[in-house]
Amino acid sequence: MVYQIYPRSFSDSNGDGIGDLQGILDRLDYLEWLGVDCLWLTPIYPSPMADFSYDVSNYTDIWPTFGDLELFDRLVSELQRRNMRIVLDWVPNHTSDQHPWFLDARRSKDSNYRDFYVWKDGAPDGGPPNNWVRSWVNLPAWTYDEGTEQWYLHCFLPEQPDLNWANPAVREAMNDTLRFWLDRGVDGFRMDVIHLLAKDPEFGDDPEDLKVLSHVVLNHREEIHPILREIRSTVKAYPGDPVIVGEVYLIDASLVASYHGSGDELDLAFNFEPMFRPFTAESWREIVDRVIEHFDARGAWPTWVLNNHDAPRSATRLRSLERAQAAAVMICTLRGTPFLFQGEELGLENAVLQEGEVIDPGFRDGARAPIPWEQESPHGWKKGGWMQFPPDAAAKAVEVQQKDPASTLSIYKALLELRRQEPALRRGDFRWLESLPGTLSWERCEAESILHVHLNLTGKEAVLEGSGEVLFSTGRDHLDGPNGALRPHEAMILRPNEAS
Ligand code: NOJ
Ligand code: CA
Repeated sequence: MVYQIYPRSFSDSNGDGIGDLQGILDRLDYLEWLGVDCLWLTPIYPSPMADFSYDVSNYTDIWPTFGDLELFDRLVSELQRRNMRIVLDWVPNHTSDQHPWFLDARRSKDSNYRDFYVWKDGAPDGGPPNNWVRSWVNLPAWTYDEGTEQWYLHCFLPEQPDLNWANPAVREAMNDTLRFWLDRGVDGFRMDVIHLLAKDPEFGDDPEDLKVLSHVVLNHREEIHPILREIRSTVKAYPGDPVIVGEVYLIDASLVASYHGSGDELDLAFNFEPMFRPFTAESWREIVDRVIEHFDARGAWPTWVLNNHDAPRSATRLRSLERAQAAAVMICTLRGTPFLFQGEELGLENAVLQEGEVIDPGFRDGARAPIPWEQESPHGWKKGGWMQFPPDAAAKAVEVQQKDPASTLSIYKALLELRRQEPALRRGDFRWLESLPGTLSWERCEAESILHVHLNLTGKEAVLEGSGEVLFSTGRDHLDGPNGALRPHEAMILRPNEAS
């Protein structure tokens, strides 16, 4: 299980209102108690924060507000002592426009770094070189540079110029940044928008009807595969089998799975389909079948994600805590690696922002609110957080939920504990069991360990078609034994009786 930390909003040690590395160190006991195996930290590098740390101005240092390299080394060794792993976020598609490479590149067409980025002459009408649009807003993916009279490409903000991965010097320099952190003992990387690295060498127009889907033509090109193989050989030259997790934002399992290559590219790739599908039995059956068809078929290990710092929190999107809890049971009991986003284990909802309060250029602020640690305001943040807390922060604070055996936090803890104890849940084979409409049932099986998962995805009580010892239930009073029924949105894990 991987736990995603958005450091800015996780825990603040010095009272400046911004989470930091010392804050993470201070909360390791909590993360260990919860049952976290591995941390993924969104970017911690120096950044002007135009895109909240996804605009990196130095890949080999720490943003001073978060801490420094010495503190980072301490975090790594403290995690090693606890047998936990750490994965950093690597942002290879673009740098900050304040990165020394870009500052030099825009100085002159003769700069040694000019070809680190994608520069083109304008179209004959004086407009951008082609019709590509950037993320979040329907505006050109190109900005004109007055000084050198050419346009540079940026799939995201103008402050995030795209690197030119067709240039071997870029590949070399960026692979070196991986080595820098591997030398410091990290256990792998989450790789930001990795599918975007290979661009159409012709830089042709996107078809008009596909353009709005955010530069579809730029995405998913054959040229990505040698790039991924090179990255893999850099990372896997290190001991301990460091992991490579790719953010392949294509929302289509059949495309995403291809980024595993033949076992020689990504280890894991985010499959975001569940974040875009309704929470119904039919739709989840289809999602799982597509994973079986595309991932399992090529021997690729799936991932499961319900939310992250770019998407609405699951309790908000699914419009109820019970649904969010049932969804958590799914992703922790299906075959694959679940990724939890900080605060998901608390059942947090998106913070509600008024007009004028939104500061993220991608309008994603709501999911990024600070974690409430304590009941009393300012909830464990000495002088409050950098933005408002999520709804019901006091009732949902960690210290409150830790004391309540029926809380969402206690449910997650019990679920993760069971996952640790039962090899079937971590590695076991998967097969569907028969179930009534609106419900889903499946089996996970590894040698002696056989478990059945039953889920009611409807708002009405449903018949439970199974029996055995109840090991876990989101309806905690069912722990005494199944009574033949599943509550609305209840999820239950049973050890079946021998005969069933
Ligand atoms: C995906 C990241 O998760 C998101 O936060 C960021 O804005 C874009 N990539 C650009 O780096
Ligand atoms: Ca701080």
